[in-house]
Amino acid sequence: MTENEFFFDQDRVRIINDSVFQTKKIKRNSVDLIITSPPYNVDIKYNSHDDKISYDQYKEFSKKWMSRCYNWLKDDGRFCLNIPLDINKGGQQSVGADLTKIAKDVGFKYHSTIIWNESNISRRTAWGSWKSASAPYVISPVELIVVLYKNTWKKTSGSRQSKIEKKDFMDWTNGLWSFSGESKNKIGHPAPFPVELPRRCIQLFSFVGDSILDPFLGSGTTLVASYLNDRKGIGIDIDANYCQIALNRLKKEAGIDVTGTKKPVPLPHKKTEIKKILITQSDIVLQHFKDYPSQPMSYKDVGEWIMGEVEKGSFKDIKAYEKIMRTLAKNGEIVKISTGVFNYETSSTK
Ligand SMILES: C[S@@+](CC[C@H](N)C(=O)[O-])C[C@H]1O[C@@H](n2cnc3c(N)ncnc32)[C@H](O)[C@@H]1O
Repeated sequence: MTENEFFFDQDRVRIINDSVFQTKKIKRNSVDLIITSPPYNVDIKYNSHDDKISYDQYKEFSKKWMSRCYNWLKDDGRFCLNIPLDINKGGQQSVGADLTKIAKDVGFKYHSTIIWNESNISRRTAWGSWKSASAPYVISPVELIVVLYKNTWKKTSGSRQSKIEKKDFMDWTNGLWSFSGESKNKIGHPAPFPVELPRRCIQLFSFVGDSILDPFLGSGTTLVASYLNDRKGIGIDIDANYCQIALNRLKKEAGIDVTGTKKPVPLPHKKTEIKKILITQSDIVLQHFKDYPSQPMSYKDVGEWIMGEVEKGSFKDIKAYEKIMRTLAKNGEIVKISTGVFNYETSSTK
């Protein structure tokens, strides 16, 4: 590949076959959202990457690629980092905590962590010490999506057009996500994540027309999700075969035209295509009860919670919250347990 060549380049999709450490094809401060799953250093047999280095080398590797990503992000850009919670085989390591610390050392600010429950608890055979406290193994069948940002969490750049269903917004802002992993055999890559992962991050954390980057593109999952969600996608992978798999998937799963015809970026102002988030104040109050299903809450509790969230900038003031609570109770959404005190769930009713 010469200096100016991309593996694939169209208005809304770019594939760069290069190393994340070397490429000069991404401008500083140009990316709105990075979504990636880096190599985990668990001895996966990639074509062009050694996935079995010492843990110290792995931390150095992580620091270097995260620094590059930091420079590529816009000031209000975000970073969704899919990593293991920990590693149990070949020496226990707190990967999730260590890489989060490295991201913060590089300059990122921490926002939150989503726990991805892969729902594929395989039949376990390694118990450490069976039914004995001498040396049992504990294995958590989850991964993390650590959500970080560069400078300001409030997003001011871009089209300001969101494209997310009300139910999805409410479900996904609960940071416990459950969906299955992706099949390596089906995709032809040793460690793909499912399209559902970048799809949720894209809809939740970016605007229509934004630039989404995956510096470890693999089989192109992030680009498929970006294209299908009317964003621009850029992917980097060191391996040309994986770049080709990504391109094939874009043709097949996203229907992109690879003949060279440029498709225009959908204009964010085409309002007919965009479903706005319609979340009422009543939805917000109800969600708070759902988040703490067994906890009775008084008007005072809810009022204080609203005040705190308004201060954090989560939403605008909800002045009529007492009336909302009464209406929710009247409609059977929450239960009145005494004067001015309500609960989402009582053991007998839900
Ligand atoms: C965990 S996989 C990513 C899988 C991807 N999320 C998907 O859904 O297919 C990590 C990828 O990083 C690539 N990679 C490893 N070292 C790299 C480097 N220095 N620069 C760019 N890509 C690299 C590997 O080739 C591999 O495809």
